[in-house]
Amino acid sequence: MASKLAPLVKFNNGLTCPILGLGTWQAESGDDVYRAICEAIDMGYRHIDGAYFYDNEKEVGQAIRDKIQQGVVKREDLFVTSKLWNTYHRPDLVEKMAKVSLSLLGLEYLDLYLIHWPMAYKEGDNLIPLDANGKCYYSDVDYVDTWKAMENLVEKGLVKSIGLSNFNSKQIDRVLGIAKIKPVTNQVESHPCLPQTKLFEFCKARGITITAYSPLGSPARPWAKPEDPSLLDDPKIKAVANKYKKTTAQVLIRYHIDRGMIVIPKSSNPKRMLENFSIWDFTLTKEDVADISTLECNGRFVLEDEGLDHKDHPFGVHAKDLEF
Ligand code: A2P
Repeated sequence: MASKLAPLVKFNNGLTCPILGLGTWQAESGDDVYRAICEAIDMGYRHIDGAYFYDNEKEVGQAIRDKIQQGVVKREDLFVTSKLWNTYHRPDLVEKMAKVSLSLLGLEYLDLYLIHWPMAYKEGDNLIPLDANGKCYYSDVDYVDTWKAMENLVEKGLVKSIGLSNFNSKQIDRVLGIAKIKPVTNQVESHPCLPQTKLFEFCKARGITITAYSPLGSPARPWAKPEDPSLLDDPKIKAVANKYKKTTAQVLIRYHIDRGMIVIPKSSNPKRMLENFSIWDFTLTKEDVADISTLECNGRFVLEDEGLDHKDHPFGVHAKDLEF
């Protein structure tokens, strides 16, 4: 086990969340993800970020329950997140889908449930409902109505906290305009090519944390092109890593923690999971952070491009004049 657990971040509702979690997007369902979650808990991870869309909640939940049964952790020591997919935004589907994720995980409550994206797709179990021309069928459900149904989940005790993912500044303010319960976080892509500094400040002023996904630059995304920048091999990040005798992945993770963000690097490899968790013995200086931030190039790797012309895509064609 790593020598230290991750420090906790306090949410606007008084509850806390470990600042470093394990991402599970692209963690293949089956034995691999089961083993990865078991090993992660053994080495000190207490925050597991998942989603219905990742199609591995059954294995993730089995691992969590086995570790609880073995007495390694108690349920209340863990922070477990799931997310509501785009085809289930209609308010009457929200509780049903939270219960589906709970049932797959085999848990009685979630620590955090997020609206995965602001855009609603045509309702149903076809998660990317495409027509014959490859165009996605949309739904006109408004995410503020979805939010009201998310609030009911807290009132019913199915989830402890609720939040957003991939929402832009305008959409966050629309939710805040109707919210009885404020979102605790907005989970967004973040790394030095897209450091999300303005969105972070905007959310901070409203008492909302930022959770950074793809902090290593999502090197395994299936649509990566050879000419795309590789943050893990970037000379500037390497120079900072050499200075602290750390790896580039460790620097990329600290880059978020030292700016006050929650961060959820994905790995299913025990050696890399431990590497990513062994970051408590160094911090980056303001100068390091500023130096790394010069890599900013509005470089987005995760687009959800099936929905780019949806009226609610956070950075799609209808949001092109919006800065963040
Ligand atoms: P693996 O699961 O085989 O370790 P991101 O969180 O930015 O999406 O990055 C996740 C990707 O980066 C996964 O493909 C993961 O592969 C890889 N990865 C995770 N940790 C490290 C690391 N410490 N060094 C190199 N690659 C890593």
